[in-house]
Amino acid sequence: MNAARITAMRMAAPAAAITGASLYSIQDAHAKEAVELDKVRASIVNLVDANAEKRGDGTSLAGTFIRLAWHACGTYDKKDGSGGSNGARMRFKPEASYGNNAGLDMARSVLEPIKKEFPDLSYADLYTYAGVVAVEEAGGPKIPFSLGRVDELDGGRSDINDRLPNAHMGSFKNVTEHIRFVFSRMGFTDQEMVALLGAHAMGRCHTDRSGFWGPWTNAETTFSNEYFRLLLEERWSPKTTHEGKPWEGPDQFEDSTGKLMMLQSDMALIADPALKKWVEIYAKDEDRFFKDFATAFSKLLHLGAPVSPIAKPWYQFW
Ligand code: HEM
Repeated sequence: MNAARITAMRMAAPAAAITGASLYSIQDAHAKEAVELDKVRASIVNLVDANAEKRGDGTSLAGTFIRLAWHACGTYDKKDGSGGSNGARMRFKPEASYGNNAGLDMARSVLEPIKKEFPDLSYADLYTYAGVVAVEEAGGPKIPFSLGRVDELDGGRSDINDRLPNAHMGSFKNVTEHIRFVFSRMGFTDQEMVALLGAHAMGRCHTDRSGFWGPWTNAETTFSNEYFRLLLEERWSPKTTHEGKPWEGPDQFEDSTGKLMMLQSDMALIADPALKKWVEIYAKDEDRFFKDFATAFSKLLHLGAPVSPIAKPWYQFW
């Protein structure tokens, strides 16, 4: 092996891993990580596929896994480094009882057999990686991801207040201020927030979880820029009826067919000119959306975690 090759390997390996470890043990660790993650991915894919077959209605666990990953991370506060996915505290009160986490107990429990299959994988890594697999397998971009999150034994370090964003806050002005506050608390810009919200191309709202109803797009198991295109091109109006009866759920919007939905927080992206600029860019340019989503989602998954994202195992760097 020549010197240039060794230098390249040292640069590719995470700095913390180099300290006190031989080059060969670093190689072994990364090779093991790659192999194990492939196995974890296969188990998650099997779970999603078997579950979709059982449901048989075109809905899927994939969207719920993306929401699980995001809610595991979305508590982060850049000021003091509190919150975030490290610790997997969503398993315990108070986060398990946050109103915004309603329904995610189901996502956590269907992942239990995978946790048993891979006991060395932390819950915190499993919850975030399930989101990565869901995005990638639905045709989305490759998300740089690293293992290394560590579980905590209780929810003692969680904020007793629900830190996740609410979907409606009365007026557009209030909801826009609210979502900007929550995403900037995590360290995200307007552009990153809009890109992240593009994940609403997948999955749906459930009346027995959030109270809202319906999918955002006609292809809820495909990762795409459809959310942005529909935001701009559909005519959205307040939902007043549901399946022939008056709508009694929380305020939401529906398209001209009544089959698709938007939350007030989604509509804020076209009500605010600085946010709408990004909606227009992503609606026109799916490659740009995929690139920006991958960067922002990877950043989200590693907020407060004791690891940084690596795009690929060291041996694929050259
Ligand atoms: C302003 C910020 C956000 C608000 C207010 C919001 C709100 C919601 C609500 C109310 C639901 C429905 C939950 C249910 O009834 O099952 C939902 C689902 C979902 N959210 Fe968000 N969300 C936000 C940001 C995000 C972000 C940043 C992501 C990912 C990067 C995301 C991904 C998803 C996905 C994939 C679903 C579908 C879940 C399923 O199919 O079970 N959301 N969101």
